[in-house]
Amino acid sequence: MKVAFFDAKPYDKPGFDHYAQEAGIEIKYFETHLNEDTVSLAAGYDCVCVFVNDTVNAAVAESLYQGGTRMIALRCAGFNNVDTRACFGKIHVFRVPVYSPYAVAEHAMALLLTINRKIHKAYNRTREFNFSLAGLTGFDLHGKTVGVIGTGKIGRIFADICKGFGMNVLAYDKFHNPDAGLNYVDLPELFAKADVISLHCPLTEETHHMIDDAAVEQMKKGVVIVNTSRGGLIDTESLINGIKVGIVGAACLDVYEEEGDLFYEDFSGSVIQDDKLVRLIAMPNVIVTSHQAFLTKEALDNIAHTTVDNMVKFEKGIESPETEVCYHCGRQTDCRKERHKKCF
Ligand code: NAI
Repeated sequence: MKVAFFDAKPYDKPGFDHYAQEAGIEIKYFETHLNEDTVSLAAGYDCVCVFVNDTVNAAVAESLYQGGTRMIALRCAGFNNVDTRACFGKIHVFRVPVYSPYAVAEHAMALLLTINRKIHKAYNRTREFNFSLAGLTGFDLHGKTVGVIGTGKIGRIFADICKGFGMNVLAYDKFHNPDAGLNYVDLPELFAKADVISLHCPLTEETHHMIDDAAVEQMKKGVVIVNTSRGGLIDTESLINGIKVGIVGAACLDVYEEEGDLFYEDFSGSVIQDDKLVRLIAMPNVIVTSHQAFLTKEALDNIAHTTVDNMVKFEKGIESPETEVCYHCGRQTDCRKERHKKCF
C-alpha cells in the first residue's frame, strides 16, 4: 500500500515510520494540508492519511476517488472534516476511535486548573521576580458543580477526574449511558446550575454552535467554559459577548472554530488577521492551546499503531467495524456496518 500522509509534523514520523516499516507500507509525508488545492498530490496513492484540519469535502473526495484512492485513514477520533456521505460507496473511511481519552480529559482539567488558579500569570510573574499575589485569587473546585456535555469515553473520564476533586457532576448526552453512574439532566438545567461546563460531544449539524447567545444567557454568572472537543460547538461571537458582559467568567479553549489555517503552525512573526481569536487571546481570563489535548507519548503511539493497523486490515480485506465510519455513523439508523460488518 502507498500512503499519502498530509499535515505531517515531526512528532508524527517516528511512530508511523516504525509501524509502517513493520507492515511493509510506504508512506510519503506531505507537510501541507489536504484540501481542494493540494488533492492532486494524492493521485496514485491507495490511501490518504489525514488529521483534524485536513479537508475532505465532496470535491476532494471525488478527486481522491478519480485519482485511485480507496481509503481515508484519519489519525484522530473526530471525523467532522470528512464528507462521509460523499465518500460512501467510493472511499472507505477509517479513524482511531480510542487512543488516549485520558490525554484529552487530563488536558481539560489542566486548562481548568490553570485558568482558575492563574498559573499562567503566576509563571510569568515569578520569572520576573514579581512575587505579588494580587489578582491571582481562584476558587475551590471542591463542592462546585461541573456540567459535562457528551459522556462518551473522554467525557466520562473527565467526570471521574472532577469527582476526584469533590465536584458535583451533572451530565448531558443525547444518548444516556445508564452504566456511567452519572446524573443526567437536560441542557437548560445544566446551563443554569453548572459553575464549570466542559464540552465532550462530537461536532455535528446538531451540535454546531450549541453554545450560542441563547445558551450563554441561561448560564450561571461566572461560569468557566472548557472546550477540548471541536471549535464549532461554540459560536465565538457569543462567547466573546458572554465574557464581555461577565456571564462567562473564563474560557479554556483547546479548539477554535476557525483554527484550520492557524493551529499547529508558528505565526509568531506575523500579524494575525483573525480578530476574534486575537480578542480571545488578549483576554486575561481566556487560555487558548493549539489543539494539543491529544498530545501525549501514549496517545501518539496508539494513533500510529491503530492507523497502520487500519491500513493493513483494509489492504488484506479484513473487516474492522469498530474503526470504519460512514455517514450512517452516529445517526443510529440503518447501520449497514452492524448487519454486514462493512459500511459498503
Ligand atoms: P465518544 O464518541 O466516545 O463520545 C461522544 C459522546 O457525545 C457520546 O456519548 C455521544 O452520545 C455524545 N453525543 C453525540 N451527539 C450528541 C449531542 N447532540 N448532544 C450531546 N451529546 C452528544 O467520543 P470521545 O472519544 O469521548 O471524544 C469526544 C470528542 O472529543 C470527539 O468528538 C472529538 O471531537 C474530541 N477530541 C478532541 C481531541 C483534542 O485533541 N482536542 C482529541 C480527541 C477527541
